[in-house]
Amino acid sequence: MKILVTGGLGFIGSHTVVELQNEGYDVVIIDNLSNSSEEVLKGIVAISGKAPIFEKMDLREKASVQSFFNKHHDVAGVIHFAASKAVGESVENPLLYYENNINTLVYILQELQQKPEANFIFSSSCTVYGQAERMPITEDASIQVAMSPYGNTKQIGEEIITDVTKVTNINAILLRYFNPIGAHPSAEIGELPIGVPQNLVPFITQTGIGLRKELSVYGDDYPTPDGTAVRDYIHVVDLARAHVIALQRLINKKNVAKVETFNLGTGTGSSVLEVIKAFEKVSGQKLPYKIVDRRDGDVTSAYANTDKANNGLGWKAQSTLEQAIASAWKWEQKIRG
Ligand code: WQD
Repeated sequence: MKILVTGGLGFIGSHTVVELQNEGYDVVIIDNLSNSSEEVLKGIVAISGKAPIFEKMDLREKASVQSFFNKHHDVAGVIHFAASKAVGESVENPLLYYENNINTLVYILQELQQKPEANFIFSSSCTVYGQAERMPITEDASIQVAMSPYGNTKQIGEEIITDVTKVTNINAILLRYFNPIGAHPSAEIGELPIGVPQNLVPFITQTGIGLRKELSVYGDDYPTPDGTAVRDYIHVVDLARAHVIALQRLINKKNVAKVETFNLGTGTGSSVLEVIKAFEKVSGQKLPYKIVDRRDGDVTSAYANTDKANNGLGWKAQSTLEQAIASAWKWEQKIRG
């Protein structure tokens, strides 16, 4: 059974391709290599012993999307990762985000609506909740006004999918990621941030390896136990496995609605200082850091209520924060060592 994974050479995409191939699916990847490299294919083959079909393509070109689906008319499901995802960049360049994250979604859905039936998994984000009123966050928490164009594209994406599934044979699952971290335990694939990492864990591992002088902790005056902001850090392999389970749910027609939404987190919140402590424990070295002002747009706390994913989807994160950070550190040492 052939599955299309857009953005399949990216961080979460590549880990999902490995899990799909381990489950026996045939995978075709579309990636424009704007935030990834063809080298990742070698890692996927090294782990799963199988080479996915790779088509270098820009999903912003509608004609290319149409010809892809004419050629690969046997695609049984689509997992759509391809999107720009840097919050700060989206504030500077909103049209890049609306074009890349919305137009591409529309072009794919236009092709899928022509099929007798279609299964679609959408990469969404806890960012749609903004600062939720209550922790842990449930899927029916109110959607706040987006804090960035990036977050808005995820909200708009969810709304487009909901509207389209009402009048087509497309069935969809929206997966709202909390904070994906770590790398495949084999250290054959992992996160490859371009330039200075915006996210906490890659910045920590690059500081640990000596690439960065010290970590800036964005604020210690939040109303949290140690004053630093709290997030739900989930191992990327756990996240990848959730995509396979969600896809199988649609293929086996186990979904109970045309669109279903699941939070993908561990259900545990960890502060920035707790992440630093976990890194120091797994690496055996002190991490140089300084406290600076809060970062604009950051929320105080965001961690998932995982009941629906655990009981509805039948998926539960397996890795602890320390295991996830240890895998990120092993990966950093491998690529920089
Ligand atoms: C985590 C915590 C920072 C860097 C974003 C997106 C979300 C998803 C994941 C795409 C925060 C603090 C960070 C640093 C720090 N992306 N921090 N120093 O902002 O929770 O989520 O990335 O899907 O949609 O919003 O993740 O890793 O940037 O920050 O103190 O150098 O670490 O303030 O509290 P975030 P993050």
